[in-house]
Amino acid sequence: MEQKRFSRQLVAAVRSRYGIQDAVIPLHAPSFGVRDREAVLEAIDSGFVSSVGRHVDDFEAAVASFTGAGFAVATVNGTAALHVALLLGGVHPGDEVITQTITFVATCNAIHYTGARPLFVDIDRDTLSLSPESLSLFLDAHAEIRDDGLCWNRDTNRVIRACLPMHTCGHPARIDRIAAVCERWHLVLIEDAAESLGSLYLGRHTGTFGRLGAVSFNGNKIITTGGGGMILTDDEHLARRAKHLTTTAKQPHPFLFLHDEVGFNYRLPALNAALGCAQMLKLEGDLEQKRALAEDYAAWFAETDYPFIREPAGARSNYWLNAFLTHDRKERDDILEETNALGVMTRPLWTPMHRLAPFAHCPCGDLTNSDWIEARLVKLPSSVPVHGH
Ligand SMILES: Cc1ncc(COP(=O)(O)O)c(C=O)c1O
Repeated sequence: MEQKRFSRQLVAAVRSRYGIQDAVIPLHAPSFGVRDREAVLEAIDSGFVSSVGRHVDDFEAAVASFTGAGFAVATVNGTAALHVALLLGGVHPGDEVITQTITFVATCNAIHYTGARPLFVDIDRDTLSLSPESLSLFLDAHAEIRDDGLCWNRDTNRVIRACLPMHTCGHPARIDRIAAVCERWHLVLIEDAAESLGSLYLGRHTGTFGRLGAVSFNGNKIITTGGGGMILTDDEHLARRAKHLTTTAKQPHPFLFLHDEVGFNYRLPALNAALGCAQMLKLEGDLEQKRALAEDYAAWFAETDYPFIREPAGARSNYWLNAFLTHDRKERDDILEETNALGVMTRPLWTPMHRLAPFAHCPCGDLTNSDWIEARLVKLPSSVPVHGH
């Protein structure tokens, strides 16, 4: 009964923040203004809608400059960015890549595309993201550096090549400490920053701590290109390789079609990049508004029994998706049921990867925090409340 009242009050609180009383309130709607429409129309009128034209270069330059990454290479989506980042990180068939079980399936799919398989370690309860302690404990107990200088999983006799943490809901992982553990264990650090564009940890952008990082511009992200992604790196050679691999490994030539390896058609079309350039212009403003919305939610939750997820110490989060914790799975499910029935879109976390059929066979460390958080967390509508720019 008590909890039913909470659900009704929560629905009213969300509705008042969006000033919407009768329509369904989505989890994260894209926001477009005149500038976005003009940019797309201009790209159409120019005829440069595919891989040729300045829009892709401009979008890459804007994202590199915003994040402080040395180089940014645009891709058709975040999954493609992750796939190529893993390949450039040297991930081979048969390898293992350490990641978190609390993630969107794309993280693990990208690992699978390389012929490697995920190995799951736990998250921290405050960051919701891969835990440096869990990583370190797992490696101490199960791994060794052999004469080849590589990190081997003693249990499976496979090389653990890389570590792929994900900044969950936009909240940064303790990525500096994860980087230190990776260095100690000769692991390549690649960040899944799909959800965390604009999030900082210790003043530095997520996605720029690892050798490579991947961002997503899917329709539900903080800015969108419809579909799109970006590889971030400070390594010029890797950036050049990323561009080559994502454009079918085509060698420059005035008219011949020469491809020097098997590449991918993963390049972001100029039409999407034009939208990306326009969306970048609103990113700072949207970040401010999203942080204000999070403050507002936090103040509301402070008067309830339900903890609101705040940005971790040392972080400045983009608060991509706001979330709070219920007391147990049954209560989580009841609140999800009630709020969705009343037209306010709330969602649980993803089903943990180690419980999905394609990844159920993958090796795991202790996943206590992952299971605990997954049973309790509810995501809230988090779009920027005032649209148009
Ligand atoms: C954590 C995470 N990784 C990867 C992706 C993949 O991005 P995309 O949908 O652009 O392929 C997403 C989002 O969609 C995501 O949330």
